[in-house]
Amino acid sequence: MASVEQIDGTGPSGEDGVRRRDFINIAAVSFAGVGAVAVVLPLIDQMNPSADVLALASTEVDLSAIQPGQAIKTTFRSQPLFVRQLTPKEIAEADKVDPSSLRDPQTLEERTVDGKKQWLVTMGVCTHLGCVPLGAGEGENRGEFGGYFCPCHGSSYDTAARIRKGPAPKNLEVPKYSFTSDTAILVG
Ligand code: FES
Repeated sequence: MASVEQIDGTGPSGEDGVRRRDFINIAAVSFAGVGAVAVVLPLIDQMNPSADVLALASTEVDLSAIQPGQAIKTTFRSQPLFVRQLTPKEIAEADKVDPSSLRDPQTLEERTVDGKKQWLVTMGVCTHLGCVPLGAGEGENRGEFGGYFCPCHGSSYDTAARIRKGPAPKNLEVPKYSFTSDTAILVG
C-alpha cells in the first residue's frame, strides 16, 4: 500500500516522488496554457471583422462597358483590381499553353468562372514585391505575353495573368467573386 510520503512526493521513495512532482508541474503548465488560449481566442474573435464590415468591403463591378480586349482598373479592399474581357484570340493563347510548363501551373478555366472564361478578374498587385503591373489601362504595355507587365523588375504575365517571365513567383491572385447578373460581379 502506498505511504503518505510516497503520495506527496516527499517520502523516501526517491525517483517515484520526482516523477510525481514532474507530473504535477506539467499539469499546472498545461492548465496555464489552456487558460492563455481561452483568453486569447475571444481577443482574436473581436479583431475579426464582422459580417457587416465584410459586406461593406465587397466591391460590385459593372462589366457592361468593358469590350473584348479591354480591361479596367478598380479597387477592392483598397488594393488595385483588374477586370478584363479577353478576346477569343487571347483565350486561345492562354489555352494552348501546357500548364505543367508554368511556374505556377493553372489553366484559364481554373482562374475563371465556369462558362465565363472571357472574364479575367485578378488583383492588380505583382506577386514579386507588390508593384501595380501595367496592361489594364488603355495603351499600356502588356508585356511579351500579352497580359500584364510589371515595370518594377520586369515580370511578364500572360493573357490568363499567369507569371511567364521575370522574378514574380506566382500568378496574379484571383479574388473570390461571383456573377450577380450577366454584366455584374460581386468581388469579396
Ligand atoms: S514588383 Fe513586380 S517584378 Fe518586382
